[in-house]
Amino acid sequence: EELSLLEKNKKYVWQPFTQMKEWVENDQLIIERGEGIKLYDTAGNEYYDGVSSIWLNVHGHQKKELNEAIKEQLDRVAHTTMLGLASVPATELAEKLVEITPSGLNKVFYSDSGSTAVEIALKMAFQYWQQIDGNYGAKNKFITLKNAYHGDTVGSVSVGGVDLFHQIYKPLLFDSLKAPSPYCYRCSFEEEKDKCNFSCIKELEKMIKKQHKKIAALVIEPLVQGAGGMITAPEGYLAKVRELCDKYNVLMIADEVAVGFGRTGKMFACEHEEVSPDIMTVAKGISGGYLPISATLTTDEIYNAFYDDYASQKTFFHGHSFTGNPLAAAVSLANIKLFEEEEIIEEMQDKIELVKDKLEDFKKLSHVGDIRQQGLMIGIELVKEKASKEEYSWEERIGVKVCMVAREKGMIIRPLGNVVVFMPPLCSRKGELVEMLDIIYDSIIDITE
Ligand code: LLP
Repeated sequence: EELSLLEKNKKYVWQPFTQMKEWVENDQLIIERGEGIKLYDTAGNEYYDGVSSIWLNVHGHQKKELNEAIKEQLDRVAHTTMLGLASVPATELAEKLVEITPSGLNKVFYSDSGSTAVEIALKMAFQYWQQIDGNYGAKNKFITLKNAYHGDTVGSVSVGGVDLFHQIYKPLLFDSLKAPSPYCYRCSFEEEKDKCNFSCIKELEKMIKKQHKKIAALVIEPLVQGAGGMITAPEGYLAKVRELCDKYNVLMIADEVAVGFGRTGKMFACEHEEVSPDIMTVAKGISGGYLPISATLTTDEIYNAFYDDYASQKTFFHGHSFTGNPLAAAVSLANIKLFEEEEIIEEMQDKIELVKDKLEDFKKLSHVGDIRQQGLMIGIELVKEKASKEEYSWEERIGVKVCMVAREKGMIIRPLGNVVVFMPPLCSRKGELVEMLDIIYDSIIDITE
């Protein structure tokens, strides 16, 4: 007898970031189709895509221009390798990326996910110091922040700081220095939000000052630590980090995988504080959320440290089979064109304000401890008790419960522990944003009141 699709899924698939026992013992959705900012399951139910299919969708699903770009490229060739050959769309896209990213980022190295883009950044930074003149060989460590998240591969986990995901792999990882997280709501220096003395930055400076001779690079998610709980840094923080990197001769790696491509209300989060990193990673939104592609951008200075006769043995030996995939590059070009034609960033500004106003109502709820927003990247931290900021224990799975109720009300969202995440596609219209926020509001009340 033929198994149903769901039975087959449960029999054959190991789902990501999922306790399979829980998955198998419960009913699950199978998504069949998407259109605009809605997803449709095999039973014909419709849902808002409230987290942009894990933070990456920009223009909605089945966007005509994006579909066309893929079809056009498909009629030429789906994939050719970049190992020893160049391709048309990846070349055109590199030019475009250099044009739209912060100044100084002039070279584009492709891969196929955010994690691999970060791996490349780490290897590039490490190798750079080995290859430039001077006594820099000891610069082989990385400094990162607590609550950081840069992907799931072993190198990117080594620079991560989310214990729930990363703790068990400790013996496999290389050591990195962990500076305090700019988590104002739970400030480790117990400073009040409006009387912030940037003690976390002072601590960061102390650490760098002491160890800069060993530090190759600092790795940071600009403006928002995403998977760590949508932790928004105070204004000025990122610029200060850039200053410290300059002062102590440490490379700055900005991981824009989650915040890049408009998510924070500017094309790249670094633009908010006029920061140009030495290395920048982009993925997710680069293809409008359509196909897997990522890029690690860097400066002429770093590129030139690898540029020499082959015999000098300075080649960057890295490259994945699907590096710079032509279909993904073609849709990325179309995505960037849509950003320009549809004035996505300009159009977002009113939407960001509208969301901000709507979120005011949430503050009155007795179990909403903190609301963090940067553009259309929103985290609502639920607490057991508001005054003491007492946390719900992880066993209570409060975030999961809220998201499951939201699903019944017609929206897919995914929490980060006790933080309810809202990351709508950037193309969402105002009315849709209001409807989605109403669903979240009602779901929080249903579970916590
Ligand atoms: N860097 C940053 C800042 C990211 O947010 C991510 C993924 C990556 C790198 C890795 O990119 P990837 O290899 O996935 O293309 N695990 C959480 C959500 C993670 C969100 C994805 N961020 C969860 O279970 O919900």
